[in-house]
Amino acid sequence: MQRIHPVAVFDCVVFGATGDLTLRKLLPALYYRFRDGQVPDESRIIGAARSPLSDEDFRRRAAHALMEHVDAKDLDAKTRDRFLDRLFYLPIDAAAKDADWSRFQAMLDPDRVRVFYFATSPSLYGPITQALGGAGLVTEKSRVVLEKPIGHDLPSALRIIDSVGAVFREDQTFRIDHYLGKETVQNLLALRFANTIFERLWSSDVIDHVQITVAETVGLEGRAGYYDHSGALRDMLQNHMLQLLCLIAMEPPVSLDADRVRDEKLKVLRALKPMDPHDVPTLTVRGQYTQGAIDGQPVPGYLTDLGSDKPSRTESFVALKAEICSWRWANVPFYLRTGKRLPQKVSEIVIQFKALPFSIFPAEAAEWQPNRLIIRLQPEEGMRLGMMTKDPGPGGMRLSPTALDIRFEKTFGHRFPDAYERLLMDTVRGDPTLFMRRDEVEAAWTWVEPILEAWAGRPDHPRPYPAGSWGPTSSIALIERDGRTWHEGAD
Ligand code: BG6
Repeated sequence: MQRIHPVAVFDCVVFGATGDLTLRKLLPALYYRFRDGQVPDESRIIGAARSPLSDEDFRRRAAHALMEHVDAKDLDAKTRDRFLDRLFYLPIDAAAKDADWSRFQAMLDPDRVRVFYFATSPSLYGPITQALGGAGLVTEKSRVVLEKPIGHDLPSALRIIDSVGAVFREDQTFRIDHYLGKETVQNLLALRFANTIFERLWSSDVIDHVQITVAETVGLEGRAGYYDHSGALRDMLQNHMLQLLCLIAMEPPVSLDADRVRDEKLKVLRALKPMDPHDVPTLTVRGQYTQGAIDGQPVPGYLTDLGSDKPSRTESFVALKAEICSWRWANVPFYLRTGKRLPQKVSEIVIQFKALPFSIFPAEAAEWQPNRLIIRLQPEEGMRLGMMTKDPGPGGMRLSPTALDIRFEKTFGHRFPDAYERLLMDTVRGDPTLFMRRDEVEAAWTWVEPILEAWAGRPDHPRPYPAGSWGPTSSIALIERDGRTWHEGAD
């Protein structure tokens, strides 16, 4: 049985309350935490958006969203109704000069923890913050949660950070990267710093290279406008994947204190070797899917999903080779790739150890496979350590690759909470460990920017790849050039 510690009673105002994120992620996450007794009964969730809805309309939408996004076996009618009673709605046009923000004052309890969740377009972050500040709504116990993308490039990120920072202190600002809330991502900290065996091996002495793959089968999912303006590098790599890289590469923090953990991640971001514009075509690959098939079903190409008959230069796939300039990681490449419309949804990190320096076994004894630690973030969260072992039997010394294998769901036997559940509760608790600090966001943009600029300055388009494939063939060449291969498959 899990231990659940209730958080303090809170009021949470969600801007963008009728949007996809609120309905698909935030409300289901809050429902689960309420059902498990972590959200106290008196807490309130106040939806805010432009549509002129009543509390009842909002509750109806929320009920529908819960039906769609919460497992039927977890949706008990009594609990659901108690949860829906905690929901309220306030129509507001956050961009309008004459919006009446004082109405929030009447709804919010001055003594409670107050969470302002911005699930809107980032262009509204500044105006909403100023309005909240101007209406005197930001109390000592207030926090603001910012969804990504924080900016489109470094200057726009800094503008957003500064305008929010003019009203909320850094310790009140929670920049969300939902990958950090995933159980297996948090488990990286446990793997590395709650066990002695790996830390001894965690360096260029023993590790050959690291691969991080975040593959999705979905296409644009009704987010064409946002995505075509963003692309895979900004949407996934600049944030989620660099955060994963940080957790793998960081030095042990001196404590689990939020700033000590974030100091170490920041050092990694700052140690990433800046990409020279001349090297960008060799060290990066961008792709765009064309029509193909996934799971035997035909799927349209990117431009059809976009509803456009004009070409687009936005990448739906990116692969790159990164290097970290530090003693620990010198000469250990980190290969990162992510894309939409790939053959399966899988996020994994592969730590590949060096090959044997010398074999005492006869050449025909085995098909050698270097040791690999595979950390599966989704689906089937777990870890596998690939090893060579002797085939049983008297037939001489024959060796095969096998694995030490932990599947978390099987081991722990209960559901894995969604990342948003953990992160929302951390926000109420005021624990920013799993959120990005300002300097991390800046450092990540600083590293990514030369790549974006080099791409923008080149005449070529992203390489086409058929939906259902692992990306453009040049992404395979990117790693095979170095005598290595992408990990695909079950081992
Ligand atoms: C989001 C991206 O941050 O992460 C989406 O904007 C992407 O494009 C999503 O689909 C992937 O998240 P997950 O948790 O499904 O791996």
